[in-house]
Amino acid sequence: MKPTLALTLAAVLALGVSTTSTTRAQDAGKVDFEKQVLPVLKESCFKCHEKEHEDGGKIKKPKGGLRLDGAAVIMKGGKEYPNENVVAGKPEASWLVKTMALPDSDDLAMPPEGKGDRVSPANIDLIKKWISEGANFGAWKGVE
Ligand code: HEC
Repeated sequence: MKPTLALTLAAVLALGVSTTSTTRAQDAGKVDFEKQVLPVLKESCFKCHEKEHEDGGKIKKPKGGLRLDGAAVIMKGGKEYPNENVVAGKPEASWLVKTMALPDSDDLAMPPEGKGDRVSPANIDLIKKWISEGANFGAWKGVE
């Protein structure tokens, strides 16, 4: 009897462990804006798409009227594509990620040609996934 009981216990334990790890894997599977997307935008986009500020005596305005330093302004979008910078659930309609994926030679490729490294395909996929999952910012609000 003893070995059977031990086996049953082991099976129950294993089941418990696997259920817990599945739940965790699902949570971990969702893209976390602040941890995973924001650093990419900071690195590749912020220098041209931040709130108007002074830098070395010069007033720097956000290019194309687009700010990427706050949740509300990311959703608001820029001059050419208002409300289409991020379309929740639709990466294929979201200029934020479309511009990243354009070939260097395209006028709307971001960052513009010669103005910074292209975003890696892995990070582009990550941002597409975040948009597909509903473009949730979590607790992050950024600059108002
Ligand atoms: C060196 C400056 C620079 C950097 C860096 C840059 N952009 Fe831009 N961006 C511009 C300029 C300038 C425009 C205005 C359109 C144009 O002249 O091409 C623009 C326009 C845009 C637009 C269109 C906004 C609209 O609705 O009119 C999007 C979307 C965009 N950028 C996204 C990004 C993303 C995403 C990144 C980072 C991967 C980025 N940009 C990095 C300069 C920059």
